[in-house]
Amino acid sequence: MLTILFFVWLTLQRIDIVQLLHFQNSSTFVIYPHLQLCTNGSFSFEFRTINRDGLLFYTDDSNINGNYISIEIINGKLLVEQRLISQQPSQLYIGENLNDNKWYKIVYKRKKSEIEILLYSVALRNMESQILTINENLLFGNETTNSDVYLGGYPPLLKSFSQKSFMLFDGYIRNLRYGNCGCSESIQRPFYSTTSDSEYCEIHPTICDKHCECLSVDEKPHYQCDCSNKTCMSTGKYSLYSLY
Ligand SMILES: *[C@@H]1O[C@H](CO)[C@@H](O)[C@H](O)[C@H]1NC(C)=O
Ligand SMILES: *[C@@H]1O[C@H](CO)[C@@H](O)[C@H](O)[C@H]1NC(C)=O
Ligand SMILES: *[C@@H]1O[C@H](CO)[C@@H](O)[C@H](O)[C@H]1NC(C)=O
Ligand SMILES: *[C@@H]1O[C@H](CO)[C@@H](O)[C@H](O)[C@H]1NC(C)=O
Repeated sequence: MLTILFFVWLTLQRIDIVQLLHFQNSSTFVIYPHLQLCTNGSFSFEFRTINRDGLLFYTDDSNINGNYISIEIINGKLLVEQRLISQQPSQLYIGENLNDNKWYKIVYKRKKSEIEILLYSVALRNMESQILTINENLLFGNETTNSDVYLGGYPPLLKSFSQKSFMLFDGYIRNLRYGNCGCSESIQRPFYSTTSDSEYCEIHPTICDKHCECLSVDEKPHYQCDCSNKTCMSTGKYSLYSLY
């Protein structure tokens, strides 16, 4: 009886362990669909780490014009770097001591000539924000040819093409969401991963109602269903709320 209970306990522990995307070493990265930022798009995700350096997010224009957007943790600060069209890369640092093993959420929001970077501390609910002003006509790559989005690292093949070299990330990332071309943000699911770890919501894809979004949270039961009625403001080409 005790043995059975022990195995039940072990199984439950295991569920607890695998419910997050854990980036552990240089061979761990996860690939998500490409992002359509347009002049009004956004994306966001949450991360937690004890390391002072590492690449969290990277996407580029498939090496056509050398455009990229990267988000790294450097010396405990978040560095948002981007190169749009043939401009010099712009860099923006936000936050500090972010390697304290607590969850932070970063939001990148393009509003025509402004890019707003918001950094939330998830537990304390405080927020820091910075605005980067750019030329309104600068776009990120080309919506049809842009690369996928890489979290935590990227494939060895891409290393020879990418504009930068990065420190690999050691930590956790969850709730990657895109607001493609000004639509409400929606949760993204990976289509390729080098780790067998996944977020709770991925392991249980039908746990929320069909029209709801499943988000990973710390509190048990470790997920939250967001059933708010999200629609895309425009009726254009990108009005489909989510691909998934
Ligand atoms: C994006 O790339 C596609 C395919 O190469 C091309 O047909 C299209 O004109 C490009 N769009 C822009 C805005 O450059
Ligand atoms: C976002 O901007 C694109 C053009 O870049 C436009 O077609 C689309 O309607 C806009 N979407 C929203 C929700 O404003
Ligand atoms: C990297 O981590 C994965 C688990 O995510 C593990 O299977 C693999 O053996 C590790 N590789 C090295 C070189 O430590
Ligand atoms: C969701 O919002 C749309 C547009 O505002 C509306 O037409 C629709 O009835 C709403 N659906 C629900 C279930 O509230």
